[in-house]
Amino acid sequence: MYHKYDAVIVGAGGAGLMAALYASRGVNTAVLSKLYPTRSHTGTAQGGMGAALGNHEEDSPEWHTFDTIKGSDYLADQDAVKIMCYEAVDIVYELEHMGLPFNRTEEGRIAQRPFGGHTNNVTNQPVRRACYAADRTGHMILQTLYQQCIKHNVTFFDEFHVLDLIVEDGVTRGVVAVEIATGELHVFHAKAVLFATGGWGKVWSVTSNAHTLTGDGPAIALRRGIPLEDMEFFQFHPTGIYKMGILITEGVRGEGGVLINSGGERFMDSYAPTIKDLASRDVVSRAIYLEVRAGRGVDGKDYVHLDVRPETVNHYFDRDGIKNPDGTPRRITAEDIEAKLPDIADFTRTYLGVDPVSQPVPVQPTAHYAMGGIPTDVWGRVVMDEKNTAMPGLYAAGEVACVSVHGANRLGTNSLLDINVFGKRSGIDMVRFCQENDLLPLPKEPEAFAREQLEALRGQQNGRERAADIRREMQDVMMDYVGVFREEEGIKQAIDKLKELQERYQRMALDDKGRRFNTDVLEAWELGALLEMAEVTAVAALARTESRGGHYREDYSKRDDENWLRHSLAWRKDGNIELGCKPVTITDYEPKERVY
Ligand code: FUM
Repeated sequence: MYHKYDAVIVGAGGAGLMAALYASRGVNTAVLSKLYPTRSHTGTAQGGMGAALGNHEEDSPEWHTFDTIKGSDYLADQDAVKIMCYEAVDIVYELEHMGLPFNRTEEGRIAQRPFGGHTNNVTNQPVRRACYAADRTGHMILQTLYQQCIKHNVTFFDEFHVLDLIVEDGVTRGVVAVEIATGELHVFHAKAVLFATGGWGKVWSVTSNAHTLTGDGPAIALRRGIPLEDMEFFQFHPTGIYKMGILITEGVRGEGGVLINSGGERFMDSYAPTIKDLASRDVVSRAIYLEVRAGRGVDGKDYVHLDVRPETVNHYFDRDGIKNPDGTPRRITAEDIEAKLPDIADFTRTYLGVDPVSQPVPVQPTAHYAMGGIPTDVWGRVVMDEKNTAMPGLYAAGEVACVSVHGANRLGTNSLLDINVFGKRSGIDMVRFCQENDLLPLPKEPEAFAREQLEALRGQQNGRERAADIRREMQDVMMDYVGVFREEEGIKQAIDKLKELQERYQRMALDDKGRRFNTDVLEAWELGALLEMAEVTAVAALARTESRGGHYREDYSKRDDENWLRHSLAWRKDGNIELGCKPVTITDYEPKERVY
């Protein structure tokens, strides 16, 4: 079946919905999502959205900009970071006016909490910058934006899984999607396409990401000759539920929670003496691994405790002299935990049988967020090379995109900000593009490549390999060798293993050969995308012989600005990954050593 739109948006998380709201104001727009929109992963984001509102204490977009650049280990493009942090304030109020139910201060302003790496740049102490709706901020953003899209009659194609991008003569012409309910292929002919498909945390065995986060958008882009940027940088969030990886928001530490080792010591004191548990995520995740390696994991295992029990937290507030703005001693109570962290309390009680009010919570770092992705400029336009040449009609926003505002390490709360700021900018620019350009013809048989891929998966008659085995082996090898700590020999082993898995992928046995709701074949297709993401990540990680942000090489433990203050670019060429690079945009802040 064929459809014609000016703008097609792939993905219905925060970035896709914000873009859809803006695009649909000017041009005929459709949103395609492999999920029902409100199941998108934005809905799992917990702790807050960064914006220097200064509702509790002095703050400024300039400090937010500097913290983000410092957090990125100076790899973020500073012009883009500045745009994000300065537009943050207005976009929070825009969401508030759409009806987003933020928590409130006693005076009725939007409440804010501290988060890792966000500081008062004079005192270097944590500043309250994360605007939050309990620990359901992403859920509230997603619901609010979806309601607005429905109110403004945005057209949705729910449970349409996009498999290919149509490109002819270097110009975007649309996408091909399979309708999950019927197995039918649909061609969406469009002037402009936005990928807002999210991340690919399912490459690793312990992850906060849902099953759907399989790197579909970037895999499609890579197969269509588009490069991926900074793929070696994947963030491990310090506090996933032990073994399960489910996110325990940094907001727990923002409210005063602390990390404790087997000896009951608050170990972040020695890794980040100034802001301790609220250091940036790369620093805290490495600290947890180092505690475990030193034999200080709880019960001799590979986890530590996150302690938000009022008696512990209040002890540290007193020890560190932390007070409320009016000078009274700061306190956390059991009621605060229930009111501000209700989902966290629910998760730990349900999944672990642990009550955070009276017991510490077992946590370990969990694969959380892709800093790299499809390269774009600050209007979401996808750029194709070292010179930032835009590909006409193609856009990306949200986690799938690399603007780059997060560089080598994202600060918590900046992803909810990123999706809104750059989703909006992409939507605005898609309108401009569609108004200035004609719809160009489709190539012959635009659905051929997508059909070929599905038929190949369905037709593997003599296959014996199981997708689940390949997925698990990929996840294990990436966790072991391309995780928080990396070194040459391990990464090479991972690359060899991934080659073996790619080969076995060609010999898979699928049980369901049918068309309707064939999730077997679509999950196999997603596994192909994950294998692409794993390979690019490992190849880029091997090449970068330095340590920066979330990429820590034990054999090159220092940051090396002389040789590596640059973005990596990766293309698929003749079956292999070919690497290039482009400069980092430095405007106001010369790279310095990071100290927290
Ligand atoms: O810890 C969290 O609530 C996660 C937030 C984020 O990734 O920005």
